[in-house]
Amino acid sequence: MLTLFPDMFPGSLGQSLAGKALERNIWSLEVTDLKTFGLGKHRTVDDTPTGGGPGMVMRPDVLASAIDAVHIGDAEKQPLIYLSPRGEVLNQALVHELKDAGGATLLCGRFEGVDERVLEARNVREVSIGDYVLSGGEPAALVLMDAIIRLLPGVIGDAATLESESFESGLLEYPQYTRPQEWEGRMVPDVLLSGHHGEIDGWRRRQAEDITRARRPDLWKRYNAQDEDE
Ligand code: ADE
Repeated sequence: MLTLFPDMFPGSLGQSLAGKALERNIWSLEVTDLKTFGLGKHRTVDDTPTGGGPGMVMRPDVLASAIDAVHIGDAEKQPLIYLSPRGEVLNQALVHELKDAGGATLLCGRFEGVDERVLEARNVREVSIGDYVLSGGEPAALVLMDAIIRLLPGVIGDAATLESESFESGLLEYPQYTRPQEWEGRMVPDVLLSGHHGEIDGWRRRQAEDITRARRPDLWKRYNAQDEDE
């Protein structure tokens, strides 16, 4: 992790499932303060945009020294990722791909961005967590890590939890209920009390399809295209 705000880590990942897995060494995190590689007495990491414009841009020389000091990259086939709203948009398939890589170096930017040349020269992959702009890459890095960590063996006790969730099947998840059977006049659907596993599975499947069709026409289209391929 390369960041100007090392205190943001492990942040939320020090709690709950990810936090327990961190204590058990199922995953680990090395945080490097980009300031360490800054220039001069003030440890400068940025400068004004060439050609004019607002804000500040992170210098390529500073970023390259930081990357070269920590990224074990190419030999290990581990990706170097810059969190940026211009990147390919994160989805569950990309989460699996990054999990399978067994580790990555994440670069969090601030200001108006980073000098484009360092992205080219160090073969940096840009990843976005969605079509909106954050004030920096750190919360995006936490999101990306959370999505990967929960898939690691031993992090979630019941592996079946992972298979039935949204996106793994290409459908959004079916609705869930628990006790009490009646609450504020609302009943749990009868079929779930029937004990009929075949009927319950069928009902959940139809619910997942209805919800996906109504809420996410984009996923629904892809889901049907994938069915036709099979
Ligand atoms: N940095 C700022 N906005 C971002 C986004 N949407 N995704 C990833 N990194 C970002």
